[in-house]
Amino acid sequence: MLVLGIETSCDETAAAVVSGERRILSNLVLSQLDEHRVFGGVVPEIAARAHMDHLDTLIRAAMADAGIGFRDLSGIAATCGPGLIGGVMVGMMAGKAIAAAHDLPFIAVNHLEAHALTPRLTDNVAFPYLLLLVSGGHTQILVAEDVGVYRRWGTTIDDAAGECFDKAAKLMGLPYPGGPNLERAATSCTSAAQAQDRFPLPRPMLGRPDCDFSFSGLKTAVRNHADKLPAGALDPRDVAMLASSFEAAICDVVTDRCARAMQRFGAAYRTETPTIVVSGGVAANTALRGALQNLATEQGFAFVAPPLKLCSDNAAMIAWAGIEHLRRGKSDGLDFAARPRWPLDPEAEPKRGAGVKA
Ligand code: KG4
Ligand code: ZN
Repeated sequence: MLVLGIETSCDETAAAVVSGERRILSNLVLSQLDEHRVFGGVVPEIAARAHMDHLDTLIRAAMADAGIGFRDLSGIAATCGPGLIGGVMVGMMAGKAIAAAHDLPFIAVNHLEAHALTPRLTDNVAFPYLLLLVSGGHTQILVAEDVGVYRRWGTTIDDAAGECFDKAAKLMGLPYPGGPNLERAATSCTSAAQAQDRFPLPRPMLGRPDCDFSFSGLKTAVRNHADKLPAGALDPRDVAMLASSFEAAICDVVTDRCARAMQRFGAAYRTETPTIVVSGGVAANTALRGALQNLATEQGFAFVAPPLKLCSDNAAMIAWAGIEHLRRGKSDGLDFAARPRWPLDPEAEPKRGAGVKA
């Protein structure tokens, strides 16, 4: 089985071909970083236009890289939500058009489900498993019970973790994209302990019995520190220390929330090897990966972190989600409507926080 995946829900235009045997035949991602950099963040209208400009070339290149023609495909999978609706429509319509022209099944993929199913593509992880999804738009703890069956145990009540990284980086005068630049700054800090003494930061939600997150207080605390530093361009040593203290706070909060979820998982599911998976762009953070790995070892969990290229937005995960659906005999009509919001667990209570995306 070969499926073409298309991803256009945010600022990456991506196309990929994946096989049912978990082989990635091609995986192309075109980042729009340069288009959005001057604005310091993603501009939806610019994103949609950039997808329009590049998607057809990228799909052709992905097919050529895989060395196949449309006739060799078993289906076309495209992200149909959640995300920036203009961009989602571009990828969805391209996918539907190819499916219609070649009489192939169309699979409407939930972008979050694609992140959630990635460890099955990379590591063949069996259900059920615990998933920490940390990206620019989402911060959630989920149990993946089966394809299409997810329990959301925790979510942010305000900003997403990646959003917090990006805003904190901006306050430190670091360029967009904030997360990777903040991580780079933190690595040049020589003493993490001194950094935390000099720039103490709160640990929102630490110790709470649920698995929810909150990051807006952390961002405000970073702003308060930054405001007290001498005006003008910040001293790189101060930035390194503030970045290091910030990373430590994020790691403490995320591991605390995951520890809760692991205890709950252990009590709710009997599995031979309980597994926790981390996915989403923030999973690229080395300090966070290390902290989660240590926590998993401590709690007797296997730790799976897909390679960075498959953690951040890509189309291989969309193609794979398509394969998981097709295998279960599921495909969608060409009248499927794009969904700006599309929660993975419809039964989970919606949270009212400003930045919550699902
Ligand atoms: O999953 P993703 O590529 O896009 C979505 O949001 O769906 O995640 C992007 C987010 C951005 O907020 C970015 O700053 C953050 O992931 N990020 C990082 C790192 N690399 C990317 N955050 C912290 N450390 C990193 N190394
Ligand atoms: Zn994503």
